[in-house]
Amino acid sequence: MKLNCLSLINFLILGCLSVVCVSQDFDFFYFVQQWPGSYCDTKQSCCYPTTGKPAADFGIHGLWPNYNDGTYPSNCDPSNPFDQSQISDLISSLQKNWPTLACPSGNGTAFWSHEWDKHGTCSESLLDQRAYFQTTLNFKKQANLLQILTTAGIRPNGESYSLEDIKGAIQGGTGFAPWIECNTDSSGNSQLYQIYLCVDTSGSNFVECPIFPNGKCGSNIEFPSF
Ligand SMILES: *[C@@H]1O[C@H](CO)[C@@H](O)[C@H](O)[C@H]1NC(C)=O
Repeated sequence: MKLNCLSLINFLILGCLSVVCVSQDFDFFYFVQQWPGSYCDTKQSCCYPTTGKPAADFGIHGLWPNYNDGTYPSNCDPSNPFDQSQISDLISSLQKNWPTLACPSGNGTAFWSHEWDKHGTCSESLLDQRAYFQTTLNFKKQANLLQILTTAGIRPNGESYSLEDIKGAIQGGTGFAPWIECNTDSSGNSQLYQIYLCVDTSGSNFVECPIFPNGKCGSNIEFPSF
């Protein structure tokens, strides 16, 4: 009884504090990187950006505010649409690290605009447009997945690797357990498509993921070349 009252009081106090002090309405971010070889070798294929074939490296997909129950907010502020003039100094870095592979070929603007409008606006009280893109670029630098994997002998050469080895390498290299999303190549083989890490609500540190998305990889998955 006593405990219950205390926890109720605690709940009220913390609940009020969190309303007063912290205005972002989400619990953590997913930071998602994708392997271009696995985007492109599917049945659906891909289109290189107008700026040319991207480097054979993981590219950023996005930084997505999420709730602890697995759901997520989206399109949070139509009054604050993507505005490229706010990130003009980041364009060349975005072209390199956050390349679009959607068809028809694009110059990146549609991809970045989609990511900001759908996801970025949901953390705008924490990160304005420039900070959102800059922060995401910084996380890619911090979690150099290709380097981590190749150091562990896991190379994008079309061979298969155990999912456990891939997870273990990333856990060892970043300090945090990743979630791996697979897709299938045009022959139906399960392959390494996207890697999820989690970031706290301050947008400054990786944290263990409170919840992982749904989906399943094979126990051995291909790491295609690009
Ligand atoms: C991409 O093309 C659109 C339309 O021509 C243009 O407004 C935009 O500034 C371009 N973006 C980049 C990054 O060059």
